[in-house]
Amino acid sequence: MTERGDIFETGEIFRERELVRVGHVPDLDRVVGRDEEIESMGSALAPAIRGGPPETTIVYGKTGTGKSLVTRCVTREATRRAAADGNTFAYAYIDCSDYGTEAQASRQMARELHERLGDAVDDRSIPRRGIGAADYRDITWELLTEGDVDAFVVVLDEIDKLDGDALLRSLSRARESGKADTFVGAICISNKIEYRERLGERVDSSLQDNELVFDPYDATQIEAILSRRRDAFAEGVLDDGVIPKTAALAAREHGDARKAIDMLYEAGRLAEQERADHVTEAHVDEAVDRAEINRFQKLVSGQTPHVKHILRALALLTERADTRTFRTAEVYDAYRKVAEQAGTTPLSYDRVQRLLKEQAFLGVTESKHTGGGHGEGSYRVHRLLRSPEIVTRGLDDQ
Ligand SMILES: Nc1ncnc2c1ncn2[C@@H]1O[C@H](COP(=O)(O)OP(=O)(O)OP(=O)(O)O)[C@@H](O)[C@H]1O
Ligand SMILES: [Mg+2]
Repeated sequence: MTERGDIFETGEIFRERELVRVGHVPDLDRVVGRDEEIESMGSALAPAIRGGPPETTIVYGKTGTGKSLVTRCVTREATRRAAADGNTFAYAYIDCSDYGTEAQASRQMARELHERLGDAVDDRSIPRRGIGAADYRDITWELLTEGDVDAFVVVLDEIDKLDGDALLRSLSRARESGKADTFVGAICISNKIEYRERLGERVDSSLQDNELVFDPYDATQIEAILSRRRDAFAEGVLDDGVIPKTAALAAREHGDARKAIDMLYEAGRLAEQERADHVTEAHVDEAVDRAEINRFQKLVSGQTPHVKHILRALALLTERADTRTFRTAEVYDAYRKVAEQAGTTPLSYDRVQRLLKEQAFLGVTESKHTGGGHGEGSYRVHRLLRSPEIVTRGLDDQ
């Protein structure tokens, strides 16, 4: 038996795959590069741990910058610390992209609190429907009183997806309105910077105690994040350059930890599929290309074959020429050849011109007017927004 196990171990790329899967929530000690943010959030919650009022915090930042993760970890840690100090701190985490109506979010708040309080409150069922958002909030206030909770923090993640303001307003007034003896606060999270102003209009200033902005990660931070997940791979399988390369690419492109982790995972999967015994930098490059091909395919899926011929024609032109931009007439000539080769009758010049405009609108290509010099009239030029290899590979493998 052990021998057979050994055979399967050789050439195995992953040891603990889940460490590089999206959705994995690491413990606070695996969270790296966000010390300042962790500390700011910690100090906003500090009074609550001692049984006082939490400060409301608004968290902004682009996608994949650790907002949800840091908030989850810090609130979890706060619960632990408060209990150690003999205070009751509770929180409810609501992802408004799952619970987008006021009623759903309010119900989820009641349910989470109920679950966290456990034996401290009577077992009761929270109705699934038939009651309104305000009723769910009343249940929440009752639970707070019954569970003798000193401080309660509601995390509203992706708050821009929530369809109203009543929940947020009620949180800021729960205590002054005499509904609960508990100090109530909120942590609102959004990756839409535009939302900042709207939130300003929606809630009063008391809810805007702290604003915390999460910047995109730099290469050093992403490298640290990925290094902590090295255990996902079997010993000695990752070439030395793989993590630094992934980190450098991710920092340059987006600074998104989620995408960086995913890129590392995809590189590992490619190595696995090839039955390679190492993950190399070439696997990272290929993973990046495949991700781009994938996005391109999504963008053009459902387009007519003629649109695809046009894009292929542009890719061919780009590969062969020194320039990247081409006049409509050039694109049309190349398109005609591609269409004929594919055994279809080419569309008219006008149709192609219109389709090119549409593609520019969809972000597949870019078109602009160029003033012709020396008596030439102005004309339109087109270019692909991706490399011709990506476009050709994406079209080939549909
Ligand atoms: N500082 C970090 N240390 C370790 N892992 C991290 C860190 N930041 C992010 N991650 C990883 O990246 C994933 C995405 O982070 P998170 O969900 O916190 O992003 P977000 O800022 O909430 O993004 P979105 O706006 O898309 O919701 C996390 O689940 C975690 O696996
Ligand atoms: Mg998030």
